[in-house]
Amino acid sequence: MAAQERSDQAVVSRRGFVGWTLGLGAGVVALVAGVPQIGALLATPRSAAPNEFVDVGKLADLPDGEPVGLTFLAESIDGYNAEQLPHTVWVVKTGTGDPIVFSPVCTHLGCQVFWDKGARHFVCPCHNSVFTKDGAVVSGPAPRPLDTLPTKIKDGILSVRWVDFTPGTTAKTPV
Ligand code: FES
Repeated sequence: MAAQERSDQAVVSRRGFVGWTLGLGAGVVALVAGVPQIGALLATPRSAAPNEFVDVGKLADLPDGEPVGLTFLAESIDGYNAEQLPHTVWVVKTGTGDPIVFSPVCTHLGCQVFWDKGARHFVCPCHNSVFTKDGAVVSGPAPRPLDTLPTKIKDGILSVRWVDFTPGTTAKTPV
């Protein structure tokens, strides 16, 4: 009888452990799934109507000579759909003159480029295209430099207009 009770306790204990483990797993999944939403709420990217300029930041806040990624929402063409999407553009301020704003879309096949601080280059991880800080192609299959985006400056605020360009061509052509 005592052995039977110990066996029952062991079964209950195992069930408790399995239930606790499943609960913990579900909690972790919920947390991980929620992280992008939390990030999106914290980032609160600004949005733009189609073809509108959107303020992305104060010129005085931008570092000199170091590309910085700024995110905002703007209408973008995805296949046959036009929808509001977050875009992280790369802004390069050079002390004199207006900053240059690069589209993050690689001119080869449209992957996202990023600024590699260590290498001091823009890099596309898809097929290893490499661009200078000025957007020129250093190496890889990219057929043209990084695309610049239209900008405006008013009262020390930089505004950018999002444009989708056709990848894979030597000419910079809006979609
Ligand atoms: Fe960038 Fe191919 S998409 S190198």
